[in-house]
Amino acid sequence: MNASVAQPSVVVDGGELDRARRLAAQLGLELAADAAHGRRLRLVVGADRLSLALPDGPAVTVDFLGGPVARRGRGARDEALGQAIGVGRGVRTVVDATAGLGRDAFLLATLGCDVRAVERNPIVAALLADGVARAARHPAVAATVARIALVEGDAVAELATVAGAGGVDAVYLDPMFPERGKASLAKKDAQALQAIVGDAGDIEPLFAAARTAANKRVVVKRPRTAPPIAESVSFSRVGRSVRFDVYLVP
Ligand SMILES: C[S@@+](CC[C@H](N)C(=O)[O-])C[C@H]1O[C@@H](n2cnc3c(N)ncnc32)[C@H](O)[C@@H]1O
Repeated sequence: MNASVAQPSVVVDGGELDRARRLAAQLGLELAADAAHGRRLRLVVGADRLSLALPDGPAVTVDFLGGPVARRGRGARDEALGQAIGVGRGVRTVVDATAGLGRDAFLLATLGCDVRAVERNPIVAALLADGVARAARHPAVAATVARIALVEGDAVAELATVAGAGGVDAVYLDPMFPERGKASLAKKDAQALQAIVGDAGDIEPLFAAARTAANKRVVVKRPRTAPPIAESVSFSRVGRSVRFDVYLVP
């Protein structure tokens, strides 16, 4: 995690104090006495969901039942991601090595992939786990989220384990990039991730690990006009604001 990133306080707003206490202890965060801290970054324990509220700004939650995720699968970007991953070419097992808020993992699961979703930031991982657990109780999406296995930890290590166990069809990388701007994630999601994760980490070890674990292809999401992270791109699929670079395994 970058030194510049903020640490939210945990606050209760309709949820259980015990859950908030456990979460604060688990994440090493301060438990604030009440929700009247609108000017601070807050991890809010609500009646039915966990959310991250930006100072004086919107709250972000992982919701696979409504909002932008419910519309996934219909736009040019989603079509491009499905093609880049190779869903029509028999790719079924995927490691999403930068799971974030799970938007892309959910789309891939919707397309029939079994997705191992790896997230190293514990706060982001907690938001994602909360969204998956909630979705698992809802018949409309339970079967889809059952295809997502969450792993909290560093994907470099996880990919080494996966490689040792025979690998997967594809590895997907959507790293944070300073230049990502409005690309790909909705603006408030991008703001929330930026606040607690910061900018890009080192992509090179992740890419190298991805190459050892992928049996068919590695796919890297980039802002549409940004340079590729490595030469030897086999081909790209382009959405309105993002591009998916595909590195086929020879
Ligand atoms: C841009 S976000 C991904 C957004 C995601 N594709 C989605 O649809 O919500 C990048 C995420 O990757 C995570 N990340 C970056 N490097 C990682 C690593 N080596 N292992 C695991 N997670 C990593 C960051 O913490 C951040 O949450």
